[in-house]
Amino acid sequence: MSDATKLRDSALAAIAKARDDTELEAIEVEYLGRRDGKISRQLLSGIAQLDPSQRATLGQEANEAKRAVEAALAARRSEHQASRLADIGETEEIDITFPGPSLERGHAHVLSQVRKELEVIFARIGYTVEEGPEIENDWYNFEALNLPKGHASRDVQETFFLDANEEIVLRTHTSPVQIRAMERIGTPPIYIIAPGRVYRRDNLDATHLPYFMQLEGLAVDEGLTVGDLKGTLLYMVQSLFGRERSVRMRPHHFGYTEPSYEFDTMCGRCMGKGCRSCGGQGWLETGGCGMVHPQVLRNGGIDPDRYSGYAWGFGIERMALLKYDVEDLRLFYENDLRFNRQF
Ligand code: DAH
Repeated sequence: MSDATKLRDSALAAIAKARDDTELEAIEVEYLGRRDGKISRQLLSGIAQLDPSQRATLGQEANEAKRAVEAALAARRSEHQASRLADIGETEEIDITFPGPSLERGHAHVLSQVRKELEVIFARIGYTVEEGPEIENDWYNFEALNLPKGHASRDVQETFFLDANEEIVLRTHTSPVQIRAMERIGTPPIYIIAPGRVYRRDNLDATHLPYFMQLEGLAVDEGLTVGDLKGTLLYMVQSLFGRERSVRMRPHHFGYTEPSYEFDTMCGRCMGKGCRSCGGQGWLETGGCGMVHPQVLRNGGIDPDRYSGYAWGFGIERMALLKYDVEDLRLFYENDLRFNRQF
């Protein structure tokens, strides 16, 4: 028997006895290691010393030995792997084949969804989103909006003041963003919405929250009329609730608009006829609106002789409540997953 064949047989015997991959690894190095492997060395150095007639035979034998050992190693390795997988349930502390707990997927809160939906609705007709600070000063929150100190609708009872002089407030509405937008943008056309949080000293109950979200809208351009205002509100309400719902405007008073209105959405249950869910009215109170008062335009740096504007504001919670028939505003903030999951 040639040396190569002997080496092959002893390697195969060792492989057959090897209990794991570590032992197989050692055998591989011992026989096939590039430099010092027993079979490799014979191929490399042994051959050089032989006379040419013997070289071919020995080379062939050594190559065959090498291939046989490689094949035996591969076969043994896959045997090991198969038996490891077969009894993994017994040998592993963690059964990696057992299905894990499914991960619960979160999603945006219903108020964020409604807010986003409104942003998209207004983006379609060219409105951009404007932001303002939640901590405001007297000028932006009141004065610039034609609500001088002592004015009845200043809602002093409802304002959170942050300083003794009552100059710094948590904004009581998003209307101050109207002034900030006019200042920032400067020359009309201005078409913006300003969604955001507002604060009021209301006691928490089913219809009042000490903070909530509003969405303000402001358009300033040449020749805007009440017709444009109503068309815009109608477009919004129909985009949110469906084509069959209309909008109604009732005269009202706000310091920063003239004329001023409250606007209502047609009740989706009775379609305006009057039912229990709308208190027999046929309409659901939605928000306030009007044509921007000339003095407010002036306070924003805009010439009221050249431009006119309309504005509106409403509570986003109220809109979500109308959309989803929610009965209690507090549900929006309790973060009970049984509630949140429904949207
Ligand atoms: N700021 C009012 C509020 O908080 C809502 C409002 C009324 C906004 C009329 C407006 C408006 O822009 O024109 O109740």
